[in-house]
Amino acid sequence: MRHHPASPSSRLRLAFASLLLVVPAAARAQAARISGERVVPDGPLWIQKAVVYQIYPQTFYDSNGDGVGDLPGIIQKLDYVKSLGVDAIWINPFFDSPFNDAGYDIRDYYEVAPRYGTNDDARRLFEEAHRRGLRVLFDYVISYTAIDHPWFVDSTREERSPHSNWYVWTDNAWKSEEGELCNRFVHGYGQRNGNFMLNFYWSEPALNFGFHQPDPEKKWQLPVDHPDVLALREELRKVLRFWMDMGADGIRADMAGALVKGKGSDEDTKAFWRDIRGTFRTAYPEGFMVSEWSGPRDALDGAFHADFFHWFEGYNDLAQKESWRILNGFSEGHSFFDSAGKGNIAHFLSKYLEQYEATRSKGYVCLPLGNHDLARLNVRRTDAELEMIMAFGITMPGVPFLYYGNEIGMRQLYGLPQIEGAYYPRSGARTPMQWTPGRNLGFSTADPAKLYLPVDAATDAPNVEAQQADPRSLLNKVRRLIALKHSEPALAAYAEFVPLYAKENAYPLVYARADGADVVLAVFNPAARPESAEFPFATPYRSLRLLAGKDVAVTRRAGTLRFDVAGQTYAVYRLER
Ligand code: NOJ
Repeated sequence: MRHHPASPSSRLRLAFASLLLVVPAAARAQAARISGERVVPDGPLWIQKAVVYQIYPQTFYDSNGDGVGDLPGIIQKLDYVKSLGVDAIWINPFFDSPFNDAGYDIRDYYEVAPRYGTNDDARRLFEEAHRRGLRVLFDYVISYTAIDHPWFVDSTREERSPHSNWYVWTDNAWKSEEGELCNRFVHGYGQRNGNFMLNFYWSEPALNFGFHQPDPEKKWQLPVDHPDVLALREELRKVLRFWMDMGADGIRADMAGALVKGKGSDEDTKAFWRDIRGTFRTAYPEGFMVSEWSGPRDALDGAFHADFFHWFEGYNDLAQKESWRILNGFSEGHSFFDSAGKGNIAHFLSKYLEQYEATRSKGYVCLPLGNHDLARLNVRRTDAELEMIMAFGITMPGVPFLYYGNEIGMRQLYGLPQIEGAYYPRSGARTPMQWTPGRNLGFSTADPAKLYLPVDAATDAPNVEAQQADPRSLLNKVRRLIALKHSEPALAAYAEFVPLYAKENAYPLVYARADGADVVLAVFNPAARPESAEFPFATPYRSLRLLAGKDVAVTRRAGTLRFDVAGQTYAVYRLER
């Protein structure tokens, strides 16, 4: 970690910037101020201003007309990806798989699945991306394998093999486990007298990273330094090196916190990832490690550069609190980003700030702008509402991850078949990218019945071609927002985040981002009604320059600033000194 205090002159200028933070007392009682102090976590420089675009390979672009997207298809669309202004792509798993979980269930870590192409296509994809200044992250899925991975098949046999201990097997098929592990075992599979542990779906047997404190009564619980466990870890490091040496630029680590088993295992899991971080430091210093842990305090503790904040209390408060928006039966209430204006941004912030403040010097907390496991942002939303959510995601700290299709406002689709473990709402968010108004919306030349998932049948389904041509389209607005991430020092991943007005059950939300003397203010009023905010503000400035959104009425009084914001309006301003 490097601390760079702002320069002496900017420090003087910022000395005025003493601001009261308006969030619930429980979250914070003390006054906050914009210090502009630069706290830069260790990691590659390029991620500091990066935006990452997530590509679901099944449904991005089908180059050979078989109805399923593929790697050559991604290559053909790299110019488009580059035109968004993003810095990198994360591609969901593209490895050989039986596809019980859309490819997360890997059968061969060293081979591209034939439906996506070949290893040569992957090599070419890395090269073509690099030629355009784009980096590529691959999905590193190592907490389990596919059920028909040869290692697992080997481990199911009665006779011992080098892979017998690579999975977690009990030693008595008749005996059930009790306590926290009780629901984690599959009984009656294979010849071996025992039950195997799963890590997600039943067909995803857990790889054996050992137990934090093996129960001496249960000899099958191996310690983390058991030679077979260590051999497995080395093999998984080899997998990492294989793709990184081929040209990948980093990893998104699936279920990163779920490796070592047993109570208190986080420290051991962290130790594994810290070791991988060591490999990055020495062999791939430009490589980016981002985790699906949703536990930044652990994930960023010497292990990852960034962690997603989505399987986390508070995340749903942003944009998917309503049961009809989250669509998985697990949430009730109101989103902050909703015209009804009944959300509670303070709840999101209290959870977010706990993590942000504890990890600011260590790494980045990333808020995904959609992903393949979440319903689309566009569940009954207008383009203006979607733009506001994009503006929020892009101006918050960390590295924004933008899910393909959300830049044009692709809608959540309903009534789709469950495919490859994509129980609803996943399937409705994984439909083909909409490139043109033509056949299959330009995704594929296949017979529509052969598509991986159907395309949006609405006559007004958004598409890239139409939006490229319209300067006021969501696509072009998102491009301009992404560009701000590069042009504004105060929007760097590490730049300071200071909520200025964020009250319990109230609108609008106002916050500052700051790096030295560079300050950006963001104000969001998703509610349909006008709202206003007055808050202490002593930072001197000459004028506010609008960077995105629409001007709001600003009243400057001694020591305070007041924003009167029309309904459904946001603004991002730079302070001009
Ligand atoms: C998270 C992935 O994003 C999801 O799609 C998958 O089903 C589970 N992890 C299991 O890997």
